[in-house]
Amino acid sequence: MVALNEWVAQVATLTRPDKIQWCDGSDAEHQALIAQMLADGTLESLNEATHPGSYLHRSHPDDVARVEHLTFVCTNEREDAGPNNHWMAPHEAHAKMDALFEGCMRGRTMYVIPYCMGPIDSPLARCGVEITDSPYVVANMRVMTRMGAPALARIEREGSFVRGLHSIGELDPERRFIMHFPDELAIKSFGSGYGGNALLGKKCHALRIASHQARNEGWLAEHMLIVGIENPQGETHYVAAAFPSACGKTNLAMLIPPEGYRQAGWKVWTVGDDICWMRPGADGRLYAINPEAGYFGVAPGTSTKSNPNALASIQTNTIFTNVGVTADNQPWWEGLDNGQTPVTDWRGNDYDASKGPAAHPNSRFTVSAKQCPSYSPEAENPAGVPISAIVFGGRRASLVPLVFEARDWTHGVLVGAAMGSETTAAATGAVGVMRRDPMAMKPFCGYNFADYFAHWLSFDDAGAKLPKIFHVNWFRKGDDGKFLWPGFGDNLRVIEWMIGRVKGEAGATQTPIGYLPKATDLNLDGVSLNEEAHAKLFGFDHAGWSAEFDSIGEYLGEYGPRMPQALHDEQQRIAAALKG
Ligand code: GTP
Ligand code: MN
Ligand code: MN
Repeated sequence: MVALNEWVAQVATLTRPDKIQWCDGSDAEHQALIAQMLADGTLESLNEATHPGSYLHRSHPDDVARVEHLTFVCTNEREDAGPNNHWMAPHEAHAKMDALFEGCMRGRTMYVIPYCMGPIDSPLARCGVEITDSPYVVANMRVMTRMGAPALARIEREGSFVRGLHSIGELDPERRFIMHFPDELAIKSFGSGYGGNALLGKKCHALRIASHQARNEGWLAEHMLIVGIENPQGETHYVAAAFPSACGKTNLAMLIPPEGYRQAGWKVWTVGDDICWMRPGADGRLYAINPEAGYFGVAPGTSTKSNPNALASIQTNTIFTNVGVTADNQPWWEGLDNGQTPVTDWRGNDYDASKGPAAHPNSRFTVSAKQCPSYSPEAENPAGVPISAIVFGGRRASLVPLVFEARDWTHGVLVGAAMGSETTAAATGAVGVMRRDPMAMKPFCGYNFADYFAHWLSFDDAGAKLPKIFHVNWFRKGDDGKFLWPGFGDNLRVIEWMIGRVKGEAGATQTPIGYLPKATDLNLDGVSLNEEAHAKLFGFDHAGWSAEFDSIGEYLGEYGPRMPQALHDEQQRIAAALKG
């Protein structure tokens, strides 16, 4: 394909690699890369008996998370990127990046990775090509995307693809930028080898660039898990949920039902754990695919108790990044709870509890989705799965109850737009600070949030059969600072209520912020909640919400006249009801 070959040649002229390798995704290619990385220390082997085919990678200690302050959206007009993004003019950004890329691959191999986001035969899928000088990135992209020959064939057929150029450079935080050019369907990322900064199919393509494509083409690219909930009657409802980074998507996507539910015949099917692309089908419902083919999941806290499906998935053929290691060379992280102890920390130093955790709080596993015991066969369906409910949620120690339902689509869009959450280790910066993270897309929306909300509102048209919208908070704390809700598997109780609402069967009470269940509207058999938990999980704090809605009003105001009037109206109506 001329356009692709030309671009590869241009990049080679700029970056001066010793060698160019077109990746076909074959086993032989993969094995050769692994051998090379073991030889040069990029990867370390792990215990072959307990973790066959698995490896450890230690990233540079200054390169362990997404870097939002170095991530830019480069549109011609600053306003199109919005106050939610850092912006740079495209010509300036290209000049800056090209200067960094100049000659940066001397002595290195340049890998050309054709990939497809989504089932290879799906009309909802989109393709891209990442050029990188990191074999670690190649190995991860092979797990996270449909990479290689079939993707190249689709690109040759379609002509259009997202161009991602990546180099680890010198891994110097002072020379690190992740630039997006939505109008050109292009990404340039320099100076980081970590996760979303470097695996360009994921956050850069499947969220920032795709959200822009989705707006033009009438679909949605979202930071959402997709999970199928099968009831004892054999009926499956698919739920898509947006929680900010490190707030429970992977856990909910792989949920194991509580004992009583399992015995009754409830089953949970994982379609995706991080990204969801959805568009209206002929019947007016939203159909969703998971554009990814693997999980890049948070390791700490993953245990047989919290997420047995994730733990089962990562026993073989897994790349671990920045975890600790035991004396017999098994991967280890805080919360693993398997009776073992680490001897080496994520930096490769002798483990010393007084110097911090063994595993970095944002350490991750990369594994094929197919290894998950709950992997849904429908995840490969090119048509996607129909969504019955959309769920928003965040970490809110106070105010926000366990669950509530939005009155209608417009109210639901406001619930998503007003989402707040306490920050986590998934991005650099302070942890535990409450910030607005609309629809969990603050770091990922490739255009002005005001236009994004307008796009969401536009789905409510004549023939639409839209999902119900809910808000959850698994992270409400008591006066003692402990979580009041058991969470994890028990979250199915909340989802069961949502499906009951979708079917018009479950009870709820109307409040100014939406429909709240009473504790008796949920199945809480086997859960013990004290009085404080009941009051805070199912109660409604009138004065607190009134203050929250004032703050939401101020937040919407920050977007100026581009903010859809419908959201202002909705906010004002609820604020007035709360004052009345
Ligand atoms: P990204 O992959 O970064 O987008 O994050 P994620 O949303 O997939 O987060 P993940 O599921 O990995 O959860 C991260 C943290 O949330 C871990 O520390 C979990 O233990 C914790 N967590 C997940 N679900 C629950 C829950 O229901 N209750 C509580 N208390 N903690 C939870
Ligand atoms: Mn994520
Ligand atoms: Mn996750």
